[in-house]
Amino acid sequence: MSYKVALNFEDGVTRFINCNETDTVADASYRAGINIPLDCRDGACGACKLFCESGSFDGGSYIEDALSDDEAKEGYALACQMKPKTDLVLRVLAPASACKTAITTTKAVVTGVELLSPSTIGLNVTLANPLAFLPGQYVNIAVPGAGGQVRAYSFSSKPGDVAAGFLIRNIPNGLMSTWLTTQAKPGDELTLTGPSGSFFLREARRPLLLLAGGTGLAPMLSMLAEMAETAPGQPVHLIYGVTHDADLVEVEKIEAYGAKIAGFSWSACVASPESVYPNKGFVTQHIPDGALNGGDVDVYLCGPPPMVEAVRAHFQNIGVVPASFYYEKFAPTSAAPGKAA
Ligand SMILES: Cc1cc2nc3c(=O)[nH]c(=O)nc-3n(C[C@H](O)[C@H](O)[C@H](O)COP(=O)(O)OP(=O)(O)OC[C@H]3O[C@@H](n4cnc5c(N)ncnc54)[C@H](O)[C@@H]3O)c2cc1C
Ligand code: FES
Repeated sequence: MSYKVALNFEDGVTRFINCNETDTVADASYRAGINIPLDCRDGACGACKLFCESGSFDGGSYIEDALSDDEAKEGYALACQMKPKTDLVLRVLAPASACKTAITTTKAVVTGVELLSPSTIGLNVTLANPLAFLPGQYVNIAVPGAGGQVRAYSFSSKPGDVAAGFLIRNIPNGLMSTWLTTQAKPGDELTLTGPSGSFFLREARRPLLLLAGGTGLAPMLSMLAEMAETAPGQPVHLIYGVTHDADLVEVEKIEAYGAKIAGFSWSACVASPESVYPNKGFVTQHIPDGALNGGDVDVYLCGPPPMVEAVRAHFQNIGVVPASFYYEKFAPTSAAPGKAA
């Protein structure tokens, strides 16, 4: 039996390899041309230590100096010893460049561009080949005719399909926004580089709280699409916040997940005082009682940098430290991307 193993590197690059149940992750990586850190290959030195984000495996045999019991309990493992029992997501403790691998480039063809609201563009593409990514991750898209300048966009669609979608904020005079709203048409070719990012759905071990601001909804839609197929087995609550009533998009799509994902609930809210939407204010004002589960909750947070900072400050003020807290800031592409905490 062969399993899919995602190797997520320190610099956010992700590569996928196939690994047989009888093979170690180290052997499968090297066969794929990815030189993850390795020394003794015998479970003695600890050079190949990595962190398992999702999935289960046989840890093999090794000495305490290479991997302590506490580290193993936390989720660390040795690549030269571990053999997969399921698909795995592994965090490699080195950048991709140090492992002689790099981000990949994929061509795509535009199939549709739609102004879903004055502030939000829906972009649909067909990928030249199905691109493996983790739900929540992003690609850099080169802006056509802009001398190689790229913008980062999170998939709003599920991994593995050649049909892919994005939700893009329409920024007045923005480079990509202007291209999309004035020139883009079906048949145009795009160059995508990735996938990248440490903001992705992990195995659900406790209730999930998803907080989205504006087009920060995109990665949440990708996660919901994945959960609709792989039943998370935990309650999932999404709160989607926007600035104006007109900014609310993809509401029917979210609503439909209510029937597809057991334990899924959601609400939306609008910040503008002029809003006629029933829920007014910010996402932090609409967290239901008990949704934080005394901190035993996995929080996924994505949106513009001020919204992400406001939510982080809110948790600090109310003294809640979520068991896992992953966030991504949709900063201008020239700024540093968000990270997992
Ligand atoms: C990891 C990552 C993932 C992202 N995923 C998405 C996504 O799925 N959907 C999405 O809409 N955006 C996403 N972004 C933001 C996106 O990459 C672009 O920055 C944004 O779409 C603006 O592109 P533009 O070319 O239209 O504007 P630009 O030409 O880049 O900018 C025009 C002006 O607007 C300002 N500006 C740019 N972006 C923002 C912003 N986000 N907030 C406030 N001011 C801004 C710039 O500073 C500049 O002054 C992501 C960013 C990162 C880092
Ligand atoms: S390479 Fe030495 S423990 Fe794996």
